[in-house]
Amino acid sequence: MASSRQVVLRAVLASLSVLSARGASGPGNYTFPDGFMFGVATAAYQIEGAWNEDGKGESMWDTYVHAHPEYTPDRSTGDVATDSYHKYMDDVAMVKELGVDYYRMSISWPRLLPNGTDNNINKAAVRYYRKVIKELIKAKIIPVVTLFHWDLPTPLMDLGGWANPQMVNYFRDYARVVFNLFGDVVKTWTTMNELHQHCIYGYGGEYFVPVLKSHGVGEYLCVHYMLLGHAAAYHLYDKEFRPTQKGKIGLTLDAFWAEPKNSSNPDDIEAAERYLQMHLGTFAHPIFSKQGDYPEVVRNRVDKLSLQQGYTRSRLPYFTPEEIISLRGSSDFFGLNHYTSFLMSPSNFEETWAIPSMDSDTGVKLEQDPKWPKPGSDWFSVYPPGFRKIINWITHEYGKEIPIIITENGLTDFGGVKDYARVDYFNEYLSQMLQAMYADGCNIQGYFAWTLMDDFEWKDGYTSKFGLYHVDFDSEEKTRTPKLSAINYREIVRTKKINFNFIKNPTSSTHSNKL
Ligand SMILES: *[C@@H]1O[C@H](CO)[C@@H](O)[C@H](O)[C@H]1NC(C)=O
Ligand SMILES: *[C@@H]1O[C@H](CO)[C@@H](O)[C@H](O)[C@H]1NC(C)=O
Ligand SMILES: *[C@@H]1O[C@H](CO)[C@@H](O)[C@H](O)[C@H]1NC(C)=O
Repeated sequence: MASSRQVVLRAVLASLSVLSARGASGPGNYTFPDGFMFGVATAAYQIEGAWNEDGKGESMWDTYVHAHPEYTPDRSTGDVATDSYHKYMDDVAMVKELGVDYYRMSISWPRLLPNGTDNNINKAAVRYYRKVIKELIKAKIIPVVTLFHWDLPTPLMDLGGWANPQMVNYFRDYARVVFNLFGDVVKTWTTMNELHQHCIYGYGGEYFVPVLKSHGVGEYLCVHYMLLGHAAAYHLYDKEFRPTQKGKIGLTLDAFWAEPKNSSNPDDIEAAERYLQMHLGTFAHPIFSKQGDYPEVVRNRVDKLSLQQGYTRSRLPYFTPEEIISLRGSSDFFGLNHYTSFLMSPSNFEETWAIPSMDSDTGVKLEQDPKWPKPGSDWFSVYPPGFRKIINWITHEYGKEIPIIITENGLTDFGGVKDYARVDYFNEYLSQMLQAMYADGCNIQGYFAWTLMDDFEWKDGYTSKFGLYHVDFDSEEKTRTPKLSAINYREIVRTKKINFNFIKNPTSSTHSNKL
C-alpha cells in the first residue's frame, strides 16, 4: 500500500514541477524555527471503525447514530470509517510521507474500558494502541495522544455524561489506566478536545451527540465538570507520573475569531469581546489566567439572567476556592483548534436561540462576510487574518509564558484530490501564524493540520471532507490517495517555509493572500 501510494505521490509531483516557480515567494518569507512541531491530527471515532470488534464497548456516538440514522445527511456511521483499526500501518506510512515529526491521535475510551470503568480493561485494545504507537516510533514519529475526543462510553453517558459530577472521578480512573499502559512511550498528552463544541452543541444543543438539548443548564454542567475532570487528570499525571515519565500534558480548546461587524462601532467591538469571553474565556480563564475562575463578565451575565429567569441558583455552577486553585495553571500548553471567523454585533434575541442558552446569555449575533470564501459546509468561511488575531487575543489574555500549540486547523470542502482551496487555506493560515510568531511575538510551538485523511465528520457524516489524503469509502481497502494539499504541506514541512507558487490553482486569477 505504502509503495503504491509513493508512486502516486511521485507522479503527482512530476506533473506539478512545471507549476513550481523559483525565487521570491511573496509574503511567505518567514521560516519556521528549528524544533517547531509539525504534525497532523486524527480522532479515534472518526477513523478507527471496528466499532464492536475485539471486546470494544459502545461509545455514545455508536449508540446514537445507530438509533438515529437520520442524524447524518448520508445516514452514515463511524462503524467502519477509514478502517484504521485494521489499516493503521497505512496511516503511519502517510504521516511519514508527509515528513511531519508528530501525530496527534486519540484513544477510544470505550475500546480500552468497555464499561467506561477501570474494573475491565480490554486487552485487545491495549495491544492495538501499543502496536500503533510502536509503529509511529519506529517511523520516528512522536505520538501526541488525546484521552477524550468525544467518544464517551455509553454506560457513562447513561449516567448523565459530563453533567454528572462523578464523571470527574471516572475520567481520572481512565487517565490512570492510560498513563500506566502507555506513559512509557507517550510523552505528550492532551486531556480533552474542544470542550466548547462538545458542551454547547452536544449538551446544550442538538448539533452534536449526545443531542441533549438541555440548553442553558446542561452545557454549563458539562463545562464545569469537564474542566474539573481535566484538572484531575492533569494533577494525577503531574504528581504520580511526571516524575518518572517526564512528559507534558495540556488541554485543547476550540475558538473562532470574533471580528466586530463594524470595527468603528463600539457596540460591535464590545459584542465581539463578550463573545470571546463567553465562548473561549469560560473554558480558558479558569485554567490559563492568573486570577483563575470563570471570567467576571461570564459569571455576572449568567448569574443575573438566571435570577431574572426565576432560577434559585445560577445556571453556571460555582467552583470552590480549592477548585479554583487546582484548575489554575493546570495545563503545560494551550492547545488551540481554529477553523473560521464570525462577524459580531449585539442582539437581544435571534430566532435560532433557545432561552435559556449560552447563545442568549451571550447576546451576540454571528454572521460571516459574504466576501469570505465558503468552500464547503455552511459554518465555514475562509478568513486567514482571524487566525493571527485569535492567537494574539489568547497571548494578550493569558500571557506569553504559556506555549500555544495549534492542535487543529484545516479546511472543509466537498471532496476531490485537486484541492486548491485547501492548499491556499494552509498557505494563508500558516502565513498568518508566522506573522503572529515573528511580528507579534506570540509563543507558538507547534502546528497540527486537521486532518490526515477524509473521515467520519460527526454531524456531516462523510459528506464534508477535511483530509490531506482522499479516502475512497466505496472501496473495500478504503484506499488513500494524497491530495495536492498533502504535497503542499509536505513541501512546507521540508523547506520550513511557505511557497505560494509551489502549487497554484490554474483556474483562479485572483490570489487571496492579499487579505
Ligand atoms: C519576500 O522576499 C521577496 C524576495 O526576496 C521580497 O521581494 C519581498 O518583499 C519579501 N516579502 C516580505 C514580506 O518581506
Ligand atoms: C461490561 O460491558 C459489557 C458489554 O460491553 C457487558 O456485557 C458487561 O456485562 C459489562 N460488565 C459490567 C461489569 O458492567
Ligand atoms: C460603523 O459605526 C460607526 C460608528 O458608530 C458609524 O458612524 C458608521 O456609520 C458605521 N458604518 C456602517 C457601515 O454601518
